[in-house]
Amino acid sequence: SAVLLLNGPNLGILGRREPEIYGTDTLADIEAAVAEEVSGRGWKVLSVQHDCEGELVGAIHAHSGSTVGAIVNPGALMIAGWSLRDALASYAPPWVEVHLSNVWAREQFRHESVIAPLASGVVVGLGAFGYRLAAQALMHLCPAQP
Ligand code: DQA
Repeated sequence: SAVLLLNGPNLGILGRREPEIYGTDTLADIEAAVAEEVSGRGWKVLSVQHDCEGELVGAIHAHSGSTVGAIVNPGALMIAGWSLRDALASYAPPWVEVHLSNVWAREQFRHESVIAPLASGVVVGLGAFGYRLAAQALMHLCPAQP
């Protein structure tokens, strides 16, 4: 089984992207952290990062039948990513939205996420550690198979 780790625009340059806001962990560090969390369950991590919304939509379509759940940081697509939102609406397994920064402590335009109403839950403001929490939440939401 695999978990879909989906990161949107500008998250491929984590580590050197405004580190005072997003921290110094790279996307590779985050992939490794999530892999470590879910390894006990025997789950793998399928990591997809794209700067274009359509590519994220395609990845959701491609992997919806073959993943047990997803961790989604939509980046700025949180604000108006309607096709990402609709793709996630068709994604049946549980998924958790993650934001590294506390979006409510920031500009007004980051205060609402168009995908959040569809998420099982949202982890905000805890940096890269938030991805570990999201991974734990997914394991909690997906009962272990006998
Ligand atoms: C972000 C928050 C978004 O508002 C921003 O556009 C990002 C990163 C976060 O992880 O804190 O790209 O999703």
